[in-house]
Amino acid sequence: MKATVTRKAHFNSAHRLHVPTWSDEKNRSYFGLCNNPNYHGHNYELEVSVTGDIDPLTGYAYDIGKLKNVIEKEITACFDHKNLNLDTLEFKTLNPTAENIASVIWQKLRKHIESKYELTVTLAETPRNIVTVNGK
Ligand code: NI
Repeated sequence: MKATVTRKAHFNSAHRLHVPTWSDEKNRSYFGLCNNPNYHGHNYELEVSVTGDIDPLTGYAYDIGKLKNVIEKEITACFDHKNLNLDTLEFKTLNPTAENIASVIWQKLRKHIESKYELTVTLAETPRNIVTVNGK
């Protein structure tokens, strides 16, 4: 029997969505408020789900304490209270949309979670705007 364990986390970050090859007008019209030249913040809510077989000895599908620690070290410590465009290497040239942030988080976590486990990352930029990636 498989089980999925989910750990929630939270970080606050600033960003600006912008495509450098587009005109200011096109950027404004496409990205709206998220194109504000002086950046703005979001309260990101993260959910990381790991699916695996329930270990008959421990009863765990995945050690959620281990998951908590890797999220804190690899994600929260890097992105919380940061300007994603200016303060992080990952988004120096990558547009920090919720899709791209979720993908970067997935890639960072995948390095620490063995491939036998399925990994899904869900990121809410606002309570109503939510993106999910699973590496496919
Ligand atoms: Ni925004």
